[in-house]
Amino acid sequence: MMTNAELQQKPIGIFDSGVGGLTVVAEVFKLLPEENIVYFGDVGRYPYGGRSKETIQNFARQDVRFLLEHQVKFIIVACNSASSVALEEIQKENDIDILGVIEPGARAAVNNTGNNRIGIIGTKATIGSDSYAKAIQRRRQETKVFSLACPLFVPLAEEGYIEKEATHLIASDYLKTLINLDIDTLVLGCTHYPLLKDVIARVMGERIRLIDSAEETARELAALLSLKNLLRPSGGDISHKFYVSDVPDKFSQIAERFLGRQIDNITRVDITRY
Ligand code: DGL
Repeated sequence: MMTNAELQQKPIGIFDSGVGGLTVVAEVFKLLPEENIVYFGDVGRYPYGGRSKETIQNFARQDVRFLLEHQVKFIIVACNSASSVALEEIQKENDIDILGVIEPGARAAVNNTGNNRIGIIGTKATIGSDSYAKAIQRRRQETKVFSLACPLFVPLAEEGYIEKEATHLIASDYLKTLINLDIDTLVLGCTHYPLLKDVIARVMGERIRLIDSAEETARELAALLSLKNLLRPSGGDISHKFYVSDVPDKFSQIAERFLGRQIDNITRVDITRY
């Protein structure tokens, strides 16, 4: 049996369908710089967002098994699509704390809204599951939620199309349906959307507050680790390990954009073994 001091030293496991979950890692670095991290990006099977619930659930099960092999003390599902359709299953099936990105984002949206009108944008899987709407209405039933899938935002963010005219045009076209609905809060319900925050904010107008699920999730993680006395005390070597299910080179190129710094220790694994 591990002592609590030993458990505190164990890494936090974070997984995503690919590189997007690094927006969550970036926030965890900021808030919890003393923590060890093991990240798994399923780049070989990316994207999850257009897949069926069953497929995403099976992928998520394997991602969790992989992280458990690294003796993680806590798991974060950084992917909104996996959090939307697989979180309950993997929580039921595993004896470890697992946090998704939906609840923290939903809570922040409810805390922010003044007029109880909230917009959600995400992948088809996330929007189709209604996960944010359910989480928001569980907290405040009278809230009106308006959801919209914006599938092109993911490849745009991956390709670095951040400040391009084409991205502005696509964002204007997608978001026009949300503009006249009098929402005061918009949840960026996808790992990649924080990269497009500026263009989304320009299209939506400054009156609308954007909620970044990655930021909220890191905050909730910090609170939970503290509550469970699992925070790693400062001192000693810190290790951040990155694993992917396909070519590490592409991951490391895109990772810089998401993380704002280079990562070199990326290892390829065969996730189908798990
Ligand atoms: N990580 C996914 C999400 O947050 C976006 C990319 C994908 O579709 O796999 O929903």
